[in-house]
Amino acid sequence: MEHIQPKRVLLTGCSSGFGLLTAIHAAQAGYEVIATLRNPAKKTALNEALRQAGATARVEILDVTDPASIQEVLDRIGPVDVLVNNAGILVMGSFLDVTDAEAQRVWQTNYFGPVALARAVAPGMIQRRRGLIINVASLAGLVGHPFNAAYAASKHALIGFSRSIRMELRPFGVRVVSVEPGYHKTEIIRANATLSEHFYDRQSPFFEWNRGFLRLMMDRVIPKAAGPEAVAEQIVRIIGMDRPRPHYVLGRDARWACRLQRLGLGAWLEKEVYSRLRRAVRQENRRESEKKARRRKTNTGSPPAHPEPPAPRTEGQALAK
Ligand SMILES: NC(=O)c1ccc[n+]([C@@H]2O[C@H](COP(=O)([O-])OP(=O)(O)OC[C@H]3O[C@@H](n4cnc5c(N)ncnc54)[C@H](OP(=O)(O)O)[C@@H]3O)[C@@H](O)[C@H]2O)c1
Repeated sequence: MEHIQPKRVLLTGCSSGFGLLTAIHAAQAGYEVIATLRNPAKKTALNEALRQAGATARVEILDVTDPASIQEVLDRIGPVDVLVNNAGILVMGSFLDVTDAEAQRVWQTNYFGPVALARAVAPGMIQRRRGLIINVASLAGLVGHPFNAAYAASKHALIGFSRSIRMELRPFGVRVVSVEPGYHKTEIIRANATLSEHFYDRQSPFFEWNRGFLRLMMDRVIPKAAGPEAVAEQIVRIIGMDRPRPHYVLGRDARWACRLQRLGLGAWLEKEVYSRLRRAVRQENRRESEKKARRRKTNTGSPPAHPEPPAPRTEGQALAK
């Protein structure tokens, strides 16, 4: 019987969210954890979080878009039994408003980064005839995600990659698992969420829709998102399994969306999302006109206190702190 005994676990994107929590839980479960993050300025905070949780992990700097950084870490740490490709980014905006550079950055991080890491650790796993690669994809890799097309496309690709290499690596005892969470309250939908450079471009046919989408996210989606703990716990459970399933859909919203798809109700789901979006656009327009009217009242004769539209949050600026 094939049996994997994962020991050394390498995780990417551990400065916050799923990565941070998975590093903590995996270390608490007794694995030898290499928690990596791209930004050296966040290293102290990660060490402190680990210390406070009573978890011991080795912290390394690794940018998944930088092949040299991947190689340096692997050279330092030696063989890896489990790779958790967790790092990911999001740039919101219609596909017309997201620039080529922004879309490429999403793909480099969410697709080519995990591929590079898998390619770097797989030869050692093949040689040792055991190993586990966990790719953190998304519900957005299973269904469409308007105003997040580059993200959804990169996650679809990551799922396709996982499904394909799973079969290639099977004869060598190396398992590949795809994890597909729905919305969870981590920094990717808060401080790390980035709006495309042209998100508030009045010339864009999507000007109102971008804003409506953001309103929907802020008012309906983010407040209802689940906490991230369960995802981290599930990833650690998968690390401990002899025979993990090929993929795990995580979170009520994601399971619900997948169930609807299976029942052939994908078109109904799209209609539902569309009608919520339209409602949010109308609400946002109404809100803006009310704001304008209030300003006209209070600033008779003088220019508005704040220019219209609201100051654009562009690349690198947070959606919500
Ligand atoms: N939360 C959700 O709703 C949700 C749903 C489905 C899937 N996911 C996926 O879950 C994974 C983890 O995200 P999260 O939700 O935990 O969000 P998060 O808190 O924003 O964590 C993302 C992590 O990725 C890191 N990262 C970004 N670019 C990187 C790079 N080039 N190299 C190395 N690390 C990099 C970030 O580092 P910095 O601190 O330096 O930016 C951060 O540590 C992502 O792949 C995301 O797509 C999240």
